[in-house]
Amino acid sequence: KFDLNYWRKRRSFLDPDNPIMNRRRLSQACRDRLVRTPTIIAMAGLPARGKTYISRKLARYLQWIGIKTKVFNVGEYRRAVKSHADKNFFDPDNAEAMAVLNQCAQKALEDACNYLADEGEVAIFDATNITRERRRAIHDFCTQTYCFRVFFVESICDSSEIIEANIKEVKLKSPDYKDVAQEEAVADFLLRIEQYEKRYEPIDDKTDENLFSFIKIFNCGERFLVHKIGGHIQSRVVYFLMNIHVTPRTIYLTRHGESELNVQQRIGGDPPLSINGKAYADALANYVAHENIPDLIVWTSQMQRTIQSAAKINAPKEQWKALNEINAGICEGLTYVEIATRYPEEFSARDQAKYHYRYPGGESYQDLVARLEPVIMELERAENVLVVCHQAVARCILAYFLNKDADDLPYTKVPLHTVIKLTPMAYGCLMECIPLGAEAVNTHREKPKNCRPDRTVSEALNEFLEEPIDTNKVRTKSEIVYKSGGTKIETIDIDGNRVSDYAT
Ligand code: ATP
Ligand code: F6P
Repeated sequence: KFDLNYWRKRRSFLDPDNPIMNRRRLSQACRDRLVRTPTIIAMAGLPARGKTYISRKLARYLQWIGIKTKVFNVGEYRRAVKSHADKNFFDPDNAEAMAVLNQCAQKALEDACNYLADEGEVAIFDATNITRERRRAIHDFCTQTYCFRVFFVESICDSSEIIEANIKEVKLKSPDYKDVAQEEAVADFLLRIEQYEKRYEPIDDKTDENLFSFIKIFNCGERFLVHKIGGHIQSRVVYFLMNIHVTPRTIYLTRHGESELNVQQRIGGDPPLSINGKAYADALANYVAHENIPDLIVWTSQMQRTIQSAAKINAPKEQWKALNEINAGICEGLTYVEIATRYPEEFSARDQAKYHYRYPGGESYQDLVARLEPVIMELERAENVLVVCHQAVARCILAYFLNKDADDLPYTKVPLHTVIKLTPMAYGCLMECIPLGAEAVNTHREKPKNCRPDRTVSEALNEFLEEPIDTNKVRTKSEIVYKSGGTKIETIDIDGNRVSDYAT
């Protein structure tokens, strides 16, 4: 019988020297649904074909949807033993160098398998893997020693313009070309590719590779060949890879203008814009007009504060229900102070695990990520887009582009009346924040200093509320000082009415 805690220490459970036992244990654990079968995604293709780009982007997506994923890049293993390498190092007749490259690949593959044996669900093995012999070895090692699934992703590109652009965009920044002139570095890298071409055997389903699961991507997604897809993870990976593109574009992200409930520090609801919020709608339309963005599409939620914020923008608009703000269930329309006093246990539980906490009758951030997945997929397909959304929704979208983990996501600062400009780059995303000047309240609540699992409800309330409260006593109208991020302090009575506010 399998014990989950024991299973969590999978490393001691899966033993590289005992493949038969590994297979038996892993298939039993999968049957008992303690774990999904771990998957190795092995890249294949000549240099400068976007393997690292695809690996990192895929890892970011899988992590964001909650699948534990890590990339193992053989180039980094090689640079640890040989920091600078020119074309001669990649010559197949250079036996010494080939031995170093093989050892690095083997070490990276072993680390990838150890990661899956420990805790991971997907390991991406980012190497050229250009020979049939190497792919067979990867397949046998992963399936026979560990019983993992293997999925090959091969990138094929015969456009010399794309390859040259790739070299200029990423390879010239590599430590291999530190202090080397641009032209010389491009010429050397093209010769490195030629060295690999001498040995390159693309995946061939007319050979015994017919048994493998794989996808071939031709010329940055112009065409795909998908073969023997097995299981949930592989089908999600294929769907994702078929949606991404490399056309340069910008994604603009903003929250709606300040709403009437924001002014009262209340969460949720479907309020209209405040006077400040209306000023932001004007400023946003002006900003977009001046940016002169080709073929811009504007996406809003179905809530009136985002629709009103986008109303004056001169561009086609689409409303998405999936972009609606997190549903706070029984806490909709309350202030944080009211939540703390009416539902102290809920308030405290949310701070202890904000990403996973689900409001009674409402949603968690984790639910929100699942709801937003089609939006992310469509954002991947789209070109220039302006997304006008809400605090929690914007945090989830930013976490995807900036690779933030589940602990940091719900505390990301996304101020009102600010446009966030996201420009995807080779291995990441550039972020610029542009405040548009219109005044707004602060709706951000800082992460409490004490989030320990053994923290009591009273400790939680005492950290948040300046006046300690006795949760056993029935409270009538009284004043509570609310610490709203240090920029504004307001005094609100127990019914949530603002008594006074003043700047600190
Ligand atoms: P190496 O084997 O030298 O590590 P690589 O195949 O990992 O090379 P990357 O470093 O990932 O190549 O190249 C990044 C560039 O590839 C980016 O400029 C990106 O726009 C581009 N790119 C992304 N996807 C593809 C694709 N499917 N085909 C060709 N180029 C792509
Ligand atoms: O306060 C504005 C708001 O958009 C609320 O509608 C929503 O419940 C809240 O932000 C989400 O932020 P947090 O998860 O920090 O409470």
